Amino acid sequence: MKPLSVILSMLAIGISSSAAMAEGANLPDASLPNVSPANSELVNRGAYIARAADCMACHGEDYTGDSPIATPMGDIYSTNITPSKRYGIGDYTKDDLKNVLRKGRAPEGMLYPAMPYPSYSGMTDEDIDALFAYLQTVPAVDEPAKYETKLPFPFNFRILMKGWNAINIPSSEKRDGLTKTQQRGEYLVNNLEHCGTCHTPRNSTMGFDKKMYLSGAPLGNWHAPNITPDEPSGIGSWSEQDIVTYLRTGELDQRAYAGGPMGEAVAHSTRYLKNEDLNAIASYLKAVPAVKTEDKVAAVNVSRLPSPINESITHDLIAQKDSLEQAKKRVSNGSNSPESLYLAACGSCHGVNGYGQPDARYAPIVGLSSIRREKPDALVNMILHGVDGATNTSPIMPGFSDQLDSEQIAGITNYVRVNFAGLTSSEVSAADVDRIATTGVEKPFLIKYAGLLAIIGIIVAIIIIVFIIRAILRSKRRR
Ligand code: HEC
Ligand code: HEC
Ligand code: HEC
Repeated sequence: MKPLSVILSMLAIGISSSAAMAEGANLPDASLPNVSPANSELVNRGAYIARAADCMACHGEDYTGDSPIATPMGDIYSTNITPSKRYGIGDYTKDDLKNVLRKGRAPEGMLYPAMPYPSYSGMTDEDIDALFAYLQTVPAVDEPAKYETKLPFPFNFRILMKGWNAINIPSSEKRDGLTKTQQRGEYLVNNLEHCGTCHTPRNSTMGFDKKMYLSGAPLGNWHAPNITPDEPSGIGSWSEQDIVTYLRTGELDQRAYAGGPMGEAVAHSTRYLKNEDLNAIASYLKAVPAVKTEDKVAAVNVSRLPSPINESITHDLIAQKDSLEQAKKRVSNGSNSPESLYLAACGSCHGVNGYGQPDARYAPIVGLSSIRREKPDALVNMILHGVDGATNTSPIMPGFSDQLDSEQIAGITNYVRVNFAGLTSSEVSAADVDRIATTGVEKPFLIKYAGLLAIIGIIVAIIIIVFIIRAILRSKRRR
């Protein structure tokens, strides 16, 4: 383990606490950072739309962009959308912004759908007007971009996106029979928050697979779970209040935690939503068709979960420090017992009994859905690759693929699933860990082979042309 992370984690234990989870129901609406000094009603409404549409997750809290969005075709960089005339969108008219959001068409050319315009295409005129007014009031940043998007042939022809848009927009349909609240929820989920960009699987052209709406999708080393109301594989057992609490705080005590990409969605967007909007999302998610998937989650068996050792921080500190140090000694003396491995590799941040230090955002991992899944892939990927903090100031979890071998990772995975998730057994093997480590982003067929297909297309076109010329020449000779 890196020395810095050890120091950080010891510090974190110092701030450890047993504070009870905040309940979303009783929380006041959050106040919004980055509201412009202009402070007009229109501009403030625009600031809220920017939060609800999660523009900052990709363009940054200061809107200067330059963050890579990983796609199967390569990294696509977000751009500066401050009102800088030189490097940003200072010259945009309201119609320019409308074209970007609705058609993916910027003044300089077509955009890639890494900018989620397929979802924004359903945004109302009112919301785009407010967003436009707000974006003009944020501080302009006159700095050139550090990175440039360079996709391989044939994706470097941005004009191709016109054809893609024709098949894939609109990306969602309005459902019949919804209440007013659920209609608001539908608009938030589909058009502003674009939850489907992560939670809906893609079809062979990288558009949404509408039959599998919100039923879960791979996301690089992450997996966005099924959030339809199916009981065994989705969130059918969650109450509407559970959904609200999760989106507001990023956690559900002994049930779920928003790490990685979901942690970012919560940190930049959903935690700022008004209660009535979170309630609308929850009510809508209960009304979408349940889709059954293979990604089953075991129900929480509270009686099998460990209880916190002691409510006293002082007791925790001493008890944990000693047992962690002893475990580290055992491991350096060659012990491969899963318990010692867990304590040595994970215990300094997540605690002897898995309760972590929630106040310092060292996740409590007891009972989490990510460790209760039938497929261990999500947990193994977290151990292999670590977890980036959602914001600059949140702590990060290091990856262990360099420090631990597959046998050891399998041992820790089984230990965590049985002791902290309440599973009766867990049989993850070193071979499973190897399989998960070598499964990269699964690219849909057309994208994987598009370069090849395009080349084959050109060869076929040349052959056809040659045949036509020969046919013409022959008919001339005959004459
Ligand atoms: C999931 C990531 C993501 C989100 C969320 C997102 N964008 Fe983007 N945006 C991008 C990327 C990536 C590009 C550049 C795409 C390209 O190069 O084709 C982009 C491009 C743009 C452009 C074109 C800029 C130019 O250079 O002309 C504008 C305008 C824009 N975004 C505004 C917004 C607004 C407003 C929001 C919120 C409503 C938003 N974006 C949300 C990723 C995102
Ligand atoms: C950037 C990708 C991304 C976006 C956008 C996103 N999610 Fe997620 N979501 C994830 C990932 C990844 C997880 C798994 C998190 C974990 O285990 O730490 C997740 C987890 C969840 C869970 C918990 C499910 C469980 O079984 O534990 C819910 C509920 C959820 N998301 C709802 C939503 C809603 C509603 C939206 C839109 C407001 C949304 N998500 C937007 C990626 C995303
Ligand atoms: C240096 C501290 C540190 C160490 C060591 C560490 N973690 Fe973590 N872990 C974290 C932090 C911080 C988070 C929360 C990240 C976030 O909020 O996005 C986390 C999150 C998690 C989660 C929940 C992720 C989710 O979204 O559901 C699991 C499970 C987990 N860690 C397991 C482990 C295991 C197993 C080990 C040992 C192999 C380990 N961690 C070692 C800091 C650590």
